[in-house]
Amino acid sequence: MKKRIGIIGYGWIAWDVHFSNYKTVTDICEITAVCDIKPEARQKAKDMFGLPDECIFSDYRELIDSGLCDAVDICTPNNMHCPIAKYALNAGLGVSIEKPVGMNYAEVKEVDELAKAKGLPVFVCFSWRHKATLRFLKDLATEGSIGDLIHVYITCIKDSALWKGRRFEWRFDKAQAGTGVLCDLGSHMIDLLAWLGVPAVGLSANYGTTVKERQEIGGEAWHKVTTDDWCNIILDLEHDVSANIKLSRSCATIPALTQVEIYGKNGKLIFNEKEKGVVTRHLEGGVEEKLPVPEKYGTAATFSQCESFINLLNGKTDVYTSTLKEGLIAQRVIDAAEISGREKRYVKLDEIK
Ligand SMILES: NC(=O)c1ccc[n+]([C@@H]2O[C@H](COP(=O)([O-])OP(=O)(O)OC[C@H]3O[C@@H](n4cnc5c(N)ncnc54)[C@H](O)[C@@H]3O)[C@@H](O)[C@H]2O)c1
Repeated sequence: MKKRIGIIGYGWIAWDVHFSNYKTVTDICEITAVCDIKPEARQKAKDMFGLPDECIFSDYRELIDSGLCDAVDICTPNNMHCPIAKYALNAGLGVSIEKPVGMNYAEVKEVDELAKAKGLPVFVCFSWRHKATLRFLKDLATEGSIGDLIHVYITCIKDSALWKGRRFEWRFDKAQAGTGVLCDLGSHMIDLLAWLGVPAVGLSANYGTTVKERQEIGGEAWHKVTTDDWCNIILDLEHDVSANIKLSRSCATIPALTQVEIYGKNGKLIFNEKEKGVVTRHLEGGVEEKLPVPEKYGTAATFSQCESFINLLNGKTDVYTSTLKEGLIAQRVIDAAEISGREKRYVKLDEIK
């Protein structure tokens, strides 16, 4: 039986990424309902999926109560992720949640406890796990190709805060977003770091806002930006491994740059988003190798996030599946970095309850 999925929030990530990804797995699922509070988003969903009016909703509770769906895919702004997830779980539906899972660790923990009590699966969209090159990088790093790990340095920067005339979207409002690049770009990068299997124990972070005011969408009024445009996190991991994560949307001239450098006792591995389908390995003695991604990881374009979600609904997981377990790990680091930057102090992860 195909799983019947309802998408809640039909904005950019839903129509630009999830839509085409669901199209690759029509043998195991179908989109049976969509909800958005904006009429233009509802119309777009109706046109793209060819759904009748009775499958299009403006209130997520009506979609969940409609009986049209086995699970929901939550693609709203961050502040609505956990309330919608709880409503869906209480109604007996499985859930996929866009990142970051929630506004803070306590909120995510409540969803986790509810999911466990109901025995229902919750998938988390840590999309970077589904890139073939990163899967290969993870295996190289964790299967000893450069020896025991010493440092992990991650850069994820872009210039998108500096786009001329960019308006006051929800992501610039703390009440709707929680934090800025810290939870937006950061949740992916923090998950990649955690994926290497060495737990973080504490961190220091700083963050700030480059563009301090933005004009409202469709209006004249100016609003104060209350989320961060840049954030640096320095982490202590177990086994004397250290890491840093540089996040910014204020890097002029950089449309997008993501690079992961992993240093081990015998060499280093580099993933650079611009170098499609290869991981660079440097070994002692000046050896530099461009390692092409083996076929078993898929092509550079393979992106199987929706398949992974549907598999989870069907009780099938693999080493790439991300659930609330991984969501909680990332949220704990996000909360710790937020406190560290605000209070200007080192934060141990076990402070976050
Ligand atoms: N995995 C990724 O790489 C990735 C990339 C971009 C965004 N995201 C995440 O996806 C989510 C959405 O981001 P986006 O860029 O698509 O934002 P967006 O503003 O383009 O879309 C959000 C949509 O949700 C709708 N919405 C708001 N409140 C709602 C409610 N109560 N019920 C139903 N619909 C509601 C809005 O009208 C809008 O259409 C965010 O959590 C974001 O962090 C993830």
